[in-house]
Order: sequence, then C-alpha cells, then structure tokens
Amino acid sequence: MKFFLDTANIEEITRINALGLVDGVTTNPSIISKEGRPFEEVIKEICNVVEGPVSPEVIGLQAEEMINEARVISQWAPNVVIKIPMTEEGLKAVHTLSKENIKTNVTLIFSVAQGLMAAKAGATFISPFLGRLDDIGIDGIEMIKRLKQVFDHYGLKSEIISASIRHLGHVEAAAEAGSHIATIPGSLFPKLWGHPLTDKGIQGFLKDWESFNKTLEGEN
Ligand code: E4P
Repeated sequence: MKFFLDTANIEEITRINALGLVDGVTTNPSIISKEGRPFEEVIKEICNVVEGPVSPEVIGLQAEEMINEARVISQWAPNVVIKIPMTEEGLKAVHTLSKENIKTNVTLIFSVAQGLMAAKAGATFISPFLGRLDDIGIDGIEMIKRLKQVFDHYGLKSEIISASIRHLGHVEAAAEAGSHIATIPGSLFPKLWGHPLTDKGIQGFLKDWESFNKTLEGEN
C-alpha cells in the first residue's frame, strides 16, 4: 500500500519523507491556506522534496477554468497531479486533461457511482472521503471496499486514494480493503508507527539493563 501525506507543511513532509514513508502528497485549498505562503511557492517546494505525485487543487468551477489552471500548474513540476472536484464540469475537465496526458486526482468522492464516473472520464486517481462519510453516520470503509471490488471487476486503471482519514483504524481498514493508497494527515503518522506498549517495553528493558550492570559493578 502506498502512503500519501495529506499536508502542505514542508517540515512535516521532510520529517516523514526521511523515514521512506512518503509516496506522494495531497493538498486542497484549506490545507494550502494554513501555510500562509503563495500557492506556487509551496507546491514547487513540496515537489522538490517528494518524488511521487503531488496534488494541488484547482479553484475554478467551470471546466474551461479548471483546464486552464491545470495547464499552468502542470508546468510547475513533472510530478504534479491536478486535483479536480467531482462535478459534471470537473468530469469534462478530467476528460480533456487526460487526452493531453495531464494527470488528475478527482476529489470529494462520496459514492461508488461517483468513483466509477471519475475513472471512466480518465482520472489517474480518485479520492473517496471516508472520514467525512463516517461523520454523517455512513460507513466510509464500506464505500472503499465496494469501490475496490468494482474497480478490480472491470480492471479500471484509476488508483483509489482513501482520503479524509481520521485515525489509525481508518488506515488499517483501508489497507484491508485493498485501497491502493491512503492519504494521511502528518499529525496521524506518529500514531501509525508508535505504540504505548513499545515505549513501555523499551523503558522496561533499559531499567533491567541498568540493574544488571549495577549488580555486575557490585560484584567487582
Ligand atoms: C484529500 O485529498 C483531502 O485533502 C483530505 O483527505 C480531506 O480530509 P478532511 O476531511 O480531513 O478535510
């Protein structure tokens, strides 16, 4: 399974990238706004650090506007993948951009039908938001499982990015469901590699080692 980082914070990206865990980065206008720096500057910096796909999102709502933005942004770095919202205009933009070999990530997907439409239009990636579905009492993981089943059944090429991940359980369940990718907030990553029993175990081992050495010193 591939891990993308769902952040535009360069310190977070650099720290986790150093562990070999970052296969790509996803952003959206809310994520970019938190950085308080120009959009282009932030995206170019991320693309310099991360080799894999980096997704900046378009702002326009009309296909023509999205296509124009995508053509400009795709020149910023070779690994840019343009995020396009899941609307009729978005699908039109994705279809045109796929014919120009501009890669896309269709975002704000909340149903299997939307995922299928995006894949059919030519999306490189689709981003189903499982956390936001859970927030309204609908099982987000169930959507991921069904999407994976349908994509496998028809041999669709688009990769599924489980997005809007809220906790460790989401990552594990997305992996079990066979999601190609999970895009994970930087703040959640340490909870993936850490465990309180690991920390407790290390402390216990060190304590026993110290006592053992003190015993040896006492004997000499
Ligand atoms: C995905 O690409 C989105 O940026 C992200 O996962 C949205 O998550 P949220 O629901 O926590 O805002």
